[in-house]
This record gives sequence, C-alpha cells and structure tokens, in this order.
Amino acid sequence: MKISVVGSGYVGLVTGGCLAEIGHDVICTDSDLSKIQMLEQGKLPIYEPGLDTVIESNRRKSRLRFDSNPPKAVAAADAIFICVGTPPLPNGEADLSAIDNVARVIASEAHGTKLVVEKSTVPAQTGQQLKRALGIYGRGRSAEFRVASNPEFLREGTAVGDFLHPDRIVVGVDDSETEKQLHEIYRPVLEQKFVCPVHESKCPPFDPPAWMVTTINSAELIKHASNSFLALKISYANMVADLAEKLGADVEEVLQAVGKDARIGTSFFRAGLGFGGFCLPKDLQAFVRLAERCGVDFALLKEAERINQRRIDHVIEKVRRALWVIRGKKVAVLGLAFKANTDDIRFAPAIELVERLTNEGAHVRSYDPEAMEKTREARPKFDLASDAYEAAEDADVLVIATEWPQFRKLDWVRIRDAMARPLIVDARNLLVPSEVRALGFEYHGIGRNEEEPSHARQ
Ligand code: UGA
Repeated sequence: MKISVVGSGYVGLVTGGCLAEIGHDVICTDSDLSKIQMLEQGKLPIYEPGLDTVIESNRRKSRLRFDSNPPKAVAAADAIFICVGTPPLPNGEADLSAIDNVARVIASEAHGTKLVVEKSTVPAQTGQQLKRALGIYGRGRSAEFRVASNPEFLREGTAVGDFLHPDRIVVGVDDSETEKQLHEIYRPVLEQKFVCPVHESKCPPFDPPAWMVTTINSAELIKHASNSFLALKISYANMVADLAEKLGADVEEVLQAVGKDARIGTSFFRAGLGFGGFCLPKDLQAFVRLAERCGVDFALLKEAERINQRRIDHVIEKVRRALWVIRGKKVAVLGLAFKANTDDIRFAPAIELVERLTNEGAHVRSYDPEAMEKTREARPKFDLASDAYEAAEDADVLVIATEWPQFRKLDWVRIRDAMARPLIVDARNLLVPSEVRALGFEYHGIGRNEEEPSHARQ
C-alpha cells in the first residue's frame, strides 16, 4: 500500500521506517526542508536504537523516501498517517494547529478515497474535528475521506521493537471498510510475518498483538488514559519511596514485592527523579485540562503532576543535606536525557536538576552518553564533560540523574579517586548501595535505607 507519513519527528520516523520495513511503499514528508535534507543525506535527527538501520535498508530498497513537499507526498498516497507534534500550550492544552494545517493540505490535494490516520497524541474528539475540517477545506473537490485514530504506544529507546511486537494495536474507526484497510496495513505485524531487524536470529516468544477496534473517541481516550496511568504509577512509587525513607524501609524491596501481584506489576514502578520527556508530562496535563473542560474533576491526576514536580526539590534537599552548603560546591551530574537509550532532553528532569543546582550556586559539570549534542544546542551554558570520569574530577558530590545502565559499569574506584569527596546521590537507584559503600563511598539513594541492612552487608 502507498502510505504517506506527515511529520518527520520521532513518531513519524519510527512509523514511516517500520511501515516500510513490513513491506509498504512509504513517503515521509515534512515542511521543514532542513530536516528532509538531513534525512536524504542518511542522517537521523534523533538517536533511536535500530532506527538508522531500518531507515537505511528501506531507503536502499526504495521502499522509503523523503519529500519536503507535503502536498505532493499526500496526493500520491492511499493512506496518510498524521504524525505531527502536538506541543503543550501555555494553559497545558495540546496545540492542534499542526493537525489543522495538515488537514488543509490533505483536503486541498486529495483525489479519490483517502484513509487519514491520526497517530499524533490528541485529546478525545479531535478525530471528529479533523473529519469536519477535511470536509470544509475540501469543499467542491471529489475526494472522500475515511478518518481513523491509531494511537501509538512506542517508548523512546525501544520504539522499533515496540512497533513490530506491540501488545495491542488500537484502531478507532467509524466503519468496517476503514477497519479492513488498517488491518491490511498491519497484517504483517498482526501475523508477526516479517524479518525482524531488532532480534538478530530469532525473536523471543511474544503473544500475538491484540487487534482492538473501537470508536474514534475511545481510541483517543485510550492513549491519554494509558500515559496518565503510567504517570500515576510512577508518582505512587515516588510517594512510597518518600515514606520508606522516613520509616527506614527500602523502596526497591517494597515495590518489587508489591509489584509481584500480577494485578499491580513491577514494570513502570520505579521511584526516582520523576517522569519527563515529551509525552508523559504533557499528556498528563492535556488530560487534566480535557477533564476540566468536560466538567470532570480529575484531582487524582493533578496530584500525580504535583508529586512529580516535587521530585527535583527532593533530590536537591538530599544534596543539600549531604553537602550542608551547595553554593560554591562542585557537582558532577551523570545523565541529561529524560531516560536511558535516548538523546531526548525535552522536559528532562536531569536538565532541570542541573539548572536548579546552578541557580543555587553550584558548579555543575555533566555528562550523558548520547544527549551531549542536543544539550550543547539547547543549553549552551552547561559545562559538559567528555566522559563520566572528567565530570567527576574534583567533584564534591556525584548525582546520577538518568538511568543509563552503562553507568553501573563505570570504574567506580577511578571515580572515587578523582572526586574531592566520595559522595553519591543516586536519584535513579541505579547502583547497588552495598557495592559502592564497600568502595568507600557515602551513598544516598531514593527511598533506600540510609543504614545498610544486615543481609545486604553479608
Ligand atoms: C511514553 C509511554 O511509555 C509510551 O507508551 C507512549 O507511547 C509514549 O510516552 C508516547 O506517548 O509517545 P516515553 O515518553 O518514551 O514513552 O517514556 P517512558 O518510557 O514512558 O518514560 C517516561 C519517564 O518516566 C522517564 O523520564 C523515565 O525515567 C520515567 N520513569 C519510567 C520512572 O521514573 N519510573 C519508571 O518506573 C518508569
């Protein structure tokens, strides 16, 4: 099937690359000429494991092309996936102006029947507005539009695998023809019939994805309700951590045991510096605003947001308690990305932490395995080290702000010897306290017993 993907940001590139990977003929388009030129030169504007290989191999097979002319790209397609950004407005609602612009382009270029798939995260009832807009902007033309909502549940860092081995594919449709067309598009994923670019020899066993057909409004609501629930779960974990700290319990032990109950689950249940990124915080806010507009008081979510905003204060207080005075101290921060396996620093708690510590008068030197370039562009004043060891040089404290697994494998003896004082504040509970304490570090985690429990010492 000929598919055009509008918007060459993160979601657009993963969607376009993976749709080509499962055999479709895909054009990714964006009105940002510089982005398209970069992609045509084989460069990716984002770091996403495995995506470069997917894009390159499909470009070579001519199954994936890039075009800086959205009207032309849209006119050639049977199905158009809208993957443009919906950033937050100052009041927290989603800015839908890019979707409106795409609707205008689609309506004025289309002939025949087009399937228009809303993939961007949008508040419920956007599909209805989109349908209306396509009708108005396309007045007097012969085109007919089928509109569907197909929310994405991709996680940055594992997005290619998430696309190809999803637990569910949700399609919000108005009629069976639209469902059939989408089923055809996703058939290789539903039947798991493709050569997997993620798992080299054989994919581990996955349950076949659930094909979930809903109304358009439900599909839109599913996306916001999913992300908001994840945010809620993390905030809950963080509150348990705060309580564990006061009671001399260990949040890691507590949440592991709580999560063993299959109804709760251990996944997405880790305490730390709070959730960031371009999805959870903004989707939570947009969901709260949507509820308010509908006259539903979703105070539960407002509280989750408030808890998350306090996470940075909590870590700064830990640093203050350990250092006594922050002003004039040297702080090494490991991690800048909003989570591991991405170079994305949008709404990254680590970035806010560096800013707050700097405002308190600390000299902060930070390092991230992938996010240095993005940080250099967005925060030119940050003092960036070329590796973790350089960041630790003469530092009074080292703060772990992103859960990169490779930080575990650093030469901690070398770090200890480089630091002015062997002090770690582990805001992601990444390290094993007994191990680093045995090396002579003073260690403070999140919700972890400050006294080493006797069984951990053995
Ligand atoms: C999130 C959702 O997980 C995806 O399902 C969704 O498709 C995506 O948003 C989207 O709407 O596009 P993502 O933004 O990639 O994915 O990031 P997450 O993996 O959700 O992590 C968000 C934040 O929560 C990170 O800052 C991470 O460090 C933090 N986190 C995560 C915790 O603090 N604790 C946890 O247990 C898990």
